[in-house]
Formats: sequence, C-alpha cells, structure tokens
Amino acid sequence: MSDSQPNPSDPKPKRDLYPNELAEQNHSSQPRADLPWHLAFDLEEVETGLAERLAANPDTESFARETLVGDRILAVIFHAGRWYAMDGICTHQGGPLAEGHIADGCVTCPWHGWQYELDTGTQTTSRQPLQAVFPIRQNGNLIEVQLL
Ligand code: FES
Repeated sequence: MSDSQPNPSDPKPKRDLYPNELAEQNHSSQPRADLPWHLAFDLEEVETGLAERLAANPDTESFARETLVGDRILAVIFHAGRWYAMDGICTHQGGPLAEGHIADGCVTCPWHGWQYELDTGTQTTSRQPLQAVFPIRQNGNLIEVQLL
C-alpha cells in the first residue's frame, strides 16, 4: 500500500460538524441533572392570574414570550399543556419566533413561514434540527430553563 492510500485501520478523519449535527448534539429539551436552572420569568409579573388561566385551560390556551436568559434570546412557549423553550431567533434570517403562529406542536416564523417542531427544533420541511431547544420547567409561578 502506498503512502497516499488511506489505511482502513486508521480512525475516521475528524471534521467540523455541520450545523444540523451540532444542534442535534448540543440541544435537547430533556433536563440534565448537572446543569442549573435559570429564571426565564415569573408568570405573575407577566400577567396577573396567568398561571391559573393556563392551568385551568391547558388544551386551549397558548402563550409565547421572548425573553433573555444569560446571553440567549429564547422563545418560551406554552402549547397544549406543555412548556417549550427554543432559540428565539429563527435560523433562516433571524425572525422573532415568539411572535410566530403556534399550532399542532409547531411554531411558524412570522417572517417567511419556516416551521419548527417545538419539542425538537426540527424544521418541518428539511427535517433537520435547525433550531436549538432547551429544557424548561414550571416551578410554581416561575418558568425556568437550562442553557446547554
Ligand atoms: S426569518 Fe424565519 S422564516 Fe425567514
């Protein structure tokens, strides 16, 4: 075998990850025990009675708010009885996802209509996990997230 031929026993050459691979590797909505929770906002400070309204009508109420946590702009969304946290800046050209239309487990960007699954950040046309998602929980009136 000449020096220019790859040796099959060598490990695969390292390469930079594509953005979709990075997003898949680094972002998940599953909570992690080793990460702290950060306050996104207090529901009572957003709107008096909001926590009770969402709890009373989990199947029909939706809510979305853009919020800054650390250095991340997040779209924090309540839909079909669950909370979701997603990068608030659309991967396409930076549209504000918290202002998007929310239906059927997805948010649709208000600028050009790219649609993302709330739980995974997967763009529904390309099926790539383009939008980062984060663990989120409700702790009393507090909405908390983990930054990965
Ligand atoms: S900026 Fe979101 S679809 Fe274009």
